[in-house]
Amino acid sequence: MTAPSPLNLGVLVSGAGSNLQAILDAISAGTLNARVKLVISNRPGAPALERARAARISALTIRHQDFDNREAFDAALVDALREVDVNWIVLAGFMRVLTPKFLSAFPGRIINIHPSLLPAFPGVDAAKQALDYGVKLTGCTVHFVDHGVDSGRIIAQRAVPVEAGDDVASLTARIHGVEHQLFVDVLREIAAGRVLPFEG
Ligand code: GRF
Repeated sequence: MTAPSPLNLGVLVSGAGSNLQAILDAISAGTLNARVKLVISNRPGAPALERARAARISALTIRHQDFDNREAFDAALVDALREVDVNWIVLAGFMRVLTPKFLSAFPGRIINIHPSLLPAFPGVDAAKQALDYGVKLTGCTVHFVDHGVDSGRIIAQRAVPVEAGDDVASLTARIHGVEHQLFVDVLREIAAGRVLPFEG
């Protein structure tokens, strides 16, 4: 039996990049059969870009403000990603909603991580939403990306308890730790062919 070929990932980021780091660490530890071909941030100076460069991964900024509309921004993302021949797209803290222009370029092969047990608490400030609501259990979700906000088909979820005395920072940190494991686990499942591209 021939070994499966590595995933060729394009990773979109906007911020700190701790999930990107978890993916890079798993690859360099030899526990994830993947290559990160390109990291793109829509925000200049995002720490995620530095993490990519430190791992000698190509990283560039494409500012959404530089485009007249969402479709033009998405077209620029697609062009950059096609040049490096990626086969899966990972949204790792990417704070933009993608248009059909982007979705149709990588059909069924775009995944996102979100810091709640979807469909609870989609959108921004998921940990704050969980605290405000008073849930005792929240978590994180990896899902396929569709045209909506955190609304695509769920691939995997993991629960995280809300502890007495939690604030947004402490709950966010606890969720983050679990996110890093879950994201890498899902990518391993994809690399092994046990999670297939979504056919909607
Ligand atoms: C994560 O909580 C992720 O679920 C959400 O944005 C955050 C990104 O964190 N989509 P980081 O940039 O990976 O540290």
